[in-house]
Amino acid sequence: MTLDHPSADPLLAYRPRFPILARTNYLISNSLGAVPEAAAQRLREYYDLWAGRGVRAWEDAWWTMAADLGDKVAPLIGAGPGEVVFQPCVTLAHAVVLSAIRFTTRRPRIVVDEMHFPSILYLLKEQAARGAEIVVVPSEDGITVDAGRVVRAIDDRTALVAISHVLFKSAFIHDAAAIAERARVKGALTIVDGYQAVGVIPVDVGALGVDVYIGGCLKWLCGGPGAAFLWVDPALGRALEPALTGWMAHARPFAFEPELERRPDAWRFLHGTPNIPALYAARAGIEIVREIGVAAIRAKSIRQTTRLLELASAEGWPCTAPADPERRGGTVAINVENGLEIARSLKALDVVCDFRPGAGIRLSPHFYNTDQELDAAVAAIREIQSTGAWRAFSTRHGAVT
Ligand SMILES: Cc1ncc(COP(=O)(O)O)c(C=O)c1O
Repeated sequence: MTLDHPSADPLLAYRPRFPILARTNYLISNSLGAVPEAAAQRLREYYDLWAGRGVRAWEDAWWTMAADLGDKVAPLIGAGPGEVVFQPCVTLAHAVVLSAIRFTTRRPRIVVDEMHFPSILYLLKEQAARGAEIVVVPSEDGITVDAGRVVRAIDDRTALVAISHVLFKSAFIHDAAAIAERARVKGALTIVDGYQAVGVIPVDVGALGVDVYIGGCLKWLCGGPGAAFLWVDPALGRALEPALTGWMAHARPFAFEPELERRPDAWRFLHGTPNIPALYAARAGIEIVREIGVAAIRAKSIRQTTRLLELASAEGWPCTAPADPERRGGTVAINVENGLEIARSLKALDVVCDFRPGAGIRLSPHFYNTDQELDAAVAAIREIQSTGAWRAFSTRHGAVT
């Protein structure tokens, strides 16, 4: 039975606000959330301000926008006003924080797990050049990471613990609170990548007890690329001095003084000119997610990911998503043979999804998807498998986006 009527599923009332849903079966919000129509108005405002006010746009709106939009997103992670600033991407937001951490011979270690997003792993491993020693905790099953193993890896030599809140491959929700607690006891900082979390699962930085939380609007916040955000516990933030810095972090940027005097607040984590059009584009999605409320989004997400797991299980397909809904984020990856080619075939049929090696075909329903769309995606996979239609999409390299 589906719940595909706004009287049974009130979140479906938001569907008409997302034009692509009228044309495609859009199941890829873990990668790029659907754009809300309202984003076009916001981008128009960007142009109009630029066209009408020229350089005065900076004083009208643009100069403070990285912090103003931070205030808009802050409630989605349980942060307060003035505590969040926007950054161009999640990797760079990590780099800003890393640049403020000294890896000493007494405390050289970064503890991370092998399931972290590769871009962050690359960056963390590069810290070896700054004296860091990287401890990579393995996953036993390629789906989960045992929080106990991470906890046991944290010791008096640990400077930093870096985890994803929700793993990009399997949607496993890390026990960030347990890890952060151990880190705190041992005097280490915890930096959490919440890109696959914010907008689809409830996040409360205070309850998690983490020091740094980073997210972005591209995926579950339907905000497009170029709009990531950074929260640093304000008590810690004042003590951090990022080497990756710039004039926006200066207490008096327009005095153009040769020496940096850092602002005491979250602006100290800014650097150069923000990506202003991206910030305009990102606003509509944040507003819609806040209007709906993450609790309602999460309830629907659990229902629909459970449905997908049941459908896949009925077909006998293995899934790299946790069975326990409490530990499962918004994505179900179906790990069938020829998954890459099948994902490509699906996209050609306007069933938009992606494929990741070791994970499978990732299907990520969001608040705007119908149950029927899930059933149709599963039926399409079955059809592509049985007819061998995937062979037409067989190529030598790479994953699809
Ligand atoms: C968990 C996670 N972290 C980081 C990234 C990459 O972020 P960015 O390209 O903004 O640096 C992704 C992208 O898919 C992701 O899923």
